[in-house]
Amino acid sequence: MNQYDSEKLNDLLEFNGYKQSNNFEESDIAILNTCHIREKASEKLYSDLGRLSKFKENKKKIGKQMHIIVTGCVAQAEGDEILKRNKSVDFVFGPQSFHKLPMILKNSNNDKVYNDFLCENKFSSLIPSKSKEVSKLVTIQEGCDKFCSFCVVPYTRGAEFSRSVENIYAEAITLVKNGAKELTLLGQNVSSYESDVIKDGKKKKIRLSDLCQILSEIVGLERIRYLTSHPIDIDDNLLNQHQKNSKLMPFLHLPIQSGSDRILKKMNRKHNKSFYLSLIKKIKKINKNMAFSSDFIVGYPGETDKDFQESLEVIEKVRFASSYSFKYSPRPGTPSSLKDNFIDEDVSDMRLKEMQSILNKHQTEFNLSFIDKTVEVLFSGKGKKHNQYVGRTPHLQPVHVVSSKSLEGKLLNVKLEDLTSYSFHGKLST
Ligand code: 5AD
Ligand code: SF4
Repeated sequence: MNQYDSEKLNDLLEFNGYKQSNNFEESDIAILNTCHIREKASEKLYSDLGRLSKFKENKKKIGKQMHIIVTGCVAQAEGDEILKRNKSVDFVFGPQSFHKLPMILKNSNNDKVYNDFLCENKFSSLIPSKSKEVSKLVTIQEGCDKFCSFCVVPYTRGAEFSRSVENIYAEAITLVKNGAKELTLLGQNVSSYESDVIKDGKKKKIRLSDLCQILSEIVGLERIRYLTSHPIDIDDNLLNQHQKNSKLMPFLHLPIQSGSDRILKKMNRKHNKSFYLSLIKKIKKINKNMAFSSDFIVGYPGETDKDFQESLEVIEKVRFASSYSFKYSPRPGTPSSLKDNFIDEDVSDMRLKEMQSILNKHQTEFNLSFIDKTVEVLFSGKGKKHNQYVGRTPHLQPVHVVSSKSLEGKLLNVKLEDLTSYSFHGKLST
């Protein structure tokens, strides 16, 4: 989502006469878009600010100015604190307020911190993108009402807000006209998307499933994905889409976080292991091509060896196509950060290492099962080598193909021949 926000901020600034600088030395505004999800991501801001402030001082010595601006979730969570920790910061903007930046830069008053929670104003101020990229992100929902006990999102991105269907459709149409073939619908809790439209004089609720159907009717759009869902929000209508909508890709990121019911309860996840496993089974039954990725947290306060083994059991059962796993990081203001039964760092490190080696093994096995198969690849751009193009399979696996003709923007059948770490080399099928 930060990637999407950064693009939108860039579009907004360009529209207001600013230009993206390719040379850092020449830039007179530096914007840091930050993440607060884990401590490591959050602390990165301060090390980056340390380097930037020296740069700003040096520029001042030669009579040049530089504005340093912090946006994103650290800006929302820490506000004034950032200005106190680093005096060279000029403005702090929460992720819901970045649309105000051009105005603030032009008529700077004394306010330095902007932390509104109103998403609506932001979405109505966005500028249509000129991007010609093949695969684009579109935020359809922000915020989260789930309040998992470890997570800062409900506090940094605020309550759930769904962008209007009209607004999303207009952005999708523009992107497709500009050359996009694939859209990934984004939301912290995308499967809770819900917005009203008036049809035949009556109010109708549009959910994620309806939105997938509506967008799939756009001529020229070939692929739709969505990210990230909560298992309890995957309803039968969405499953129906996965069965009948050929533009909806057969790959779903469905975080479970832990395989232990005891820990899931402490995490306030609102689902247990058997609910999750039966959901996976149900989805595979309606579409046998479906593959899954997930998020796992190891070392949640009070996690025993037995709890950890239960996470590994889920991994063995599902055999994820790919997954993300993290060491628990206590976040300020979250209920779990107030617990006192923290897990020893060494134990968490060992658990993470063990989990990641199994997840990697499964990912490789999943990928190897595609060798010598022909799959549709959507090519998004050039590779590093001469005449090489890069694309993605329906399951998001990267593929490299050598071709003397440009493949950019094309959806073509490719025979997958070799697997190197996580990407394939293939040949166009004739
Ligand atoms: N510690 C570690 N991982 C976390 N995540 C969210 N909050 C924390 C935390 N406090 C992980 C979850 C989530 C992903 C985006 O980040 O797995 O799904
Ligand atoms: Fe955070 Fe996702 Fe839980 Fe919402 S559902 S609180 S975003 S982990």
